[in-house]
Amino acid sequence: MNKNSTPESPFERCPVTIHDSAEEGALQVAAEIAELIRERSGRRERTVLGLATGSTPVPVYRELVRMHREEGLSFADVVTFNLDEYYPLPRSHRESYWQFMQDQFFRHIDIDPANTHVPDGEVGREEAFAHCREYDAAIDAAGGIDLQILGIGRTGHIGFNEPGSGAESPTRLVTLNEVTRQDAARDFLGEENVPRYAITMGVGTILRARRIRLMAWGRSKASVIAKAVEEPPSDRLPASYLQGHDGVEFILDRPAAGALTRIVEPWRVDFVDWNPELIRRAVIGLCRKVEKPVLKLVDRDYNEQGLADLLTVKGSAYQLNIHIFNVLQHTITGWPGGKPDADDSHRPERADPARKRSLVLASEPQEDILGMGGTIRRLCEQGHDVTLAYATSGDLAVPDREALASLELTHELCPGATLMNGGVPLAELIRALREKDTLDEDGEALRAVKGAIREGEARQSMRMLGIHPDRLEFMRLPFYGRGRYRQFVATEEDRTAMVELLERIRPHQVFLSGDQADPASVTGMTFRVFRDAFRRCREEEQWPSDTYIWVYRGPTEEWGLDQIDMAVPLSPDELQRKLDAAFQHRSQHSQTSFALSEQSESWQRTESLNRKIAREYDALGMAEYEAIECFLRWEG
Ligand code: GLP
Repeated sequence: MNKNSTPESPFERCPVTIHDSAEEGALQVAAEIAELIRERSGRRERTVLGLATGSTPVPVYRELVRMHREEGLSFADVVTFNLDEYYPLPRSHRESYWQFMQDQFFRHIDIDPANTHVPDGEVGREEAFAHCREYDAAIDAAGGIDLQILGIGRTGHIGFNEPGSGAESPTRLVTLNEVTRQDAARDFLGEENVPRYAITMGVGTILRARRIRLMAWGRSKASVIAKAVEEPPSDRLPASYLQGHDGVEFILDRPAAGALTRIVEPWRVDFVDWNPELIRRAVIGLCRKVEKPVLKLVDRDYNEQGLADLLTVKGSAYQLNIHIFNVLQHTITGWPGGKPDADDSHRPERADPARKRSLVLASEPQEDILGMGGTIRRLCEQGHDVTLAYATSGDLAVPDREALASLELTHELCPGATLMNGGVPLAELIRALREKDTLDEDGEALRAVKGAIREGEARQSMRMLGIHPDRLEFMRLPFYGRGRYRQFVATEEDRTAMVELLERIRPHQVFLSGDQADPASVTGMTFRVFRDAFRRCREEEQWPSDTYIWVYRGPTEEWGLDQIDMAVPLSPDELQRKLDAAFQHRSQHSQTSFALSEQSESWQRTESLNRKIAREYDALGMAEYEAIECFLRWEG
């Protein structure tokens, strides 16, 4: 374990532990919980745990279940209180937090159900206030919470304490924020199905716990974590109230820690060894601060912004500027598969072989086009042998109404038709779908219909880009077919399927996403399946030593210019074409016109992201492009 190898930072207002991976972080928390339970049980005392839902605590529950099964850890003396529950929502609902806790934890351990508490999403409005008061009273009566685990929402919420929640707030009924509802839309198959309210333990309730462990995994949590840890506490970001607690610890993986000062600007925290990566980050950061392009920085800029040390090590501003200018310049290429017959000593990709086997891997349709649509087109036009592989069909993200519309149309055209393989008559499927509650689990036949819709959109999208559908491969990895969001488990079968693909293609270059994503997400899980499969190939074969792995940006991952290894510029026409292709994923469109005005459609976010990178390059004094797609080189 290599936790916390970076120095502690004076910018951090509470204890933070950084782990190499989410798994390691989760093991730390699970071990602490187990130790607490054993210690208290040994004294014949009960342990009161505060529990959380969401993807974040899932690996902690898995480890505790393992300890129960393999090491005899008993929960007979444990009492639990969950943070929150959607409102109104019956327990039996598959998205209720009550259900989540049964599925992920309670059903697998020896806890007495009477000792588990989850706020009641079914209580009547009039009784809600009393129910909340009783919930707090029950926590007090149990002796208070010994250890509370927490995740964090994109708005900085803990439990469902949205911005505006007071430090003293008790357990209560709250209205959910728009952003939070958007984040839950995937689970509820559409924002319109997400409950508008929730019952949540208050900030005050949480702060009364004796120990608090807030966990965060993945790059998408980095900016909110940095604010919660480094900015003064405020009701704008409820997680920041935790700073005042003397038993709190933030437990992060590296991507989630990625925006902390000790990671972004370690030279402000301690003496650093000025390696090329840090130098580049420091100079780019300096350009931003003083609002100058690289070549216009002078010694005084460095000195005044606390980088005198860097100047003494590296000579003068003049030398440093030219060096960084060249480094940045060399990341830009219109030849993502390498430029044939050109000197490639300063290019991101090799010139040889001139015609490469390129594998573009997407965790589900649309991820590839959003992340690197312009680059895909270039690779094809430049004559590379491109395979577009989709790890999953993404069927879980198709709303019922889309499936119904497609089925009704097909049925009208071919009355009496049956569904491929299963032989289910379409008429029967349509009838069932009309009666289905949006939140009932999809059967195999319906998942197949939804998968076919997304795979069809992927073909149409690539056609718009001028790419023949023959290049597409649908892997349908078993982890996805068997699971639901937040409950996926990758197995040997997934890795074997990936090894098979890699062995068959033996790619010279692979493009994929998700190395910094929450490992529980579809993109994070696909990345890990790939990583393990690739490593296995490397142990056994020669070809992987000659493969470059390029990571493209997932929709929620913010990268800095200092990290980019390859930047592929897009002309206005190329950008337009990419967006048109992305638009073909119709089942992924938001259903409200409100979304359009909010710029929240995925192709709109991609457009702003691609344009933003181009503007940032421009501001540093590089050529001015319309848009840029960017990639990190992953060294395995
Ligand atoms: C919901 C829950 C929070 C949780 C947050 C983040 O809003 N009420 O308790 O921390 O989601 O979820 P995830 O862990 O899936 O990122």
